[in-house]
Amino acid sequence: MNYRVVVIGGGAIASRHLEAMGQVRQLEPVALADIDGEKAGQLAQSFGIRAYTDYRDMVKKERPHIAIVTLPHFLHKEAAVYCAGEGCHVLLEKPMAISVGECDEIIEAVRGSGVKLLVGHTQHYFPENVKAKELIDSGELGRLVMINDIRHVHYYQPSRPAWFFDKAKAGGGILTNLGSHSIDKIRWLGGSPIARVRSSVSYCGSRGDVEGGGLIFLENAEGIPAVISQSGYAGVPRNETELVFTGGMAKLVTGQGLWISQDGEFVPVALGREEPPFVLQFRDLITSIETGKEPGCSMTYSREIVEVVEAVYRSHERRSEIFLSQTREPG
Ligand SMILES: NC(=O)c1ccc[n+]([C@@H]2O[C@H](COP(=O)([O-])OP(=O)(O)OC[C@H]3O[C@@H](n4cnc5c(N)ncnc54)[C@H](O)[C@@H]3O)[C@@H](O)[C@H]2O)c1
Repeated sequence: MNYRVVVIGGGAIASRHLEAMGQVRQLEPVALADIDGEKAGQLAQSFGIRAYTDYRDMVKKERPHIAIVTLPHFLHKEAAVYCAGEGCHVLLEKPMAISVGECDEIIEAVRGSGVKLLVGHTQHYFPENVKAKELIDSGELGRLVMINDIRHVHYYQPSRPAWFFDKAKAGGGILTNLGSHSIDKIRWLGGSPIARVRSSVSYCGSRGDVEGGGLIFLENAEGIPAVISQSGYAGVPRNETELVFTGGMAKLVTGQGLWISQDGEFVPVALGREEPPFVLQFRDLITSIETGKEPGCSMTYSREIVEVVEAVYRSHERRSEIFLSQTREPG
């Protein structure tokens, strides 16, 4: 079957989705909507599709099978609920929403409508990440005993849209936006829900009311600990995940590669020639639509990530550890 697709939000990540759609035969992009009419017009023109300023108007007129939601975080819920209500399958960008309560509203709307919704946790589609997961599951280096995840980016670059620095619109700063990638990676690679969270968050950024960095200690339900260190202050960019096993180590640099320890040194691991992550993400959604199976990044899974992000802020405010096992959504 072929699917008519619309994009809601014509910002930075929208073009990545539109480019990826060009590599998936079943997908036919037809229109995009952005409240900024000039932006919508320019992007739509470059991909030969129609432009709208009101996404509801677009969905009503275009009757798409799939809507890709690439809006600021505070609008994820309203757009996902609206699209589900109109019978559209949804690819919803991460994080699923800005609170667990909003995730629950999305889950209810989607389950009630019978459509499929995949949350864009792209980490699951990078070849080096997939290889790292295989390495863990194979037991080749023994048992996984801990994960160290470190990420530095210049988060306060002038080109970043203002809403990213407004807690009401973004849900939080770097730990919501990029932290959700790290939490997802740790949750997925560790193979078990996060059970405990302790954090210390830093609010020293030059813009807005969101945090600019923080340290997070996590432990999953299997007792595997992980540390996330993230900063958005000026510095040297870094994005590394260190996996420590009983019989060796691995270094994962998402977007670059995977290395494993051999005789005291890191050696590169050969990777398969998979399709680009955004293409694989579409294939996952299509499989889910056509088979009825939940996608890898299901709503229930993605809600867990939002729950951990919320716990990060709560732990910092209370200066105490947060235990998550009691609050998990059933089923
Ligand atoms: N998966 C990834 O690797 C990845 C990478 C970047 C961004 N993202 C996610 O994608 C989403 C969008 O991020 P971005 O960097 O593209 O942001 P952006 O600010 O560049 O784009 C958002 C767009 O939405 C538009 N918009 C705002 N309100 C609207 C409304 N009511 N109706 C229609 N359009 C509206 C804005 O004008 C803007 O063009 C976020 O959830 C972000 O976390 C994911």
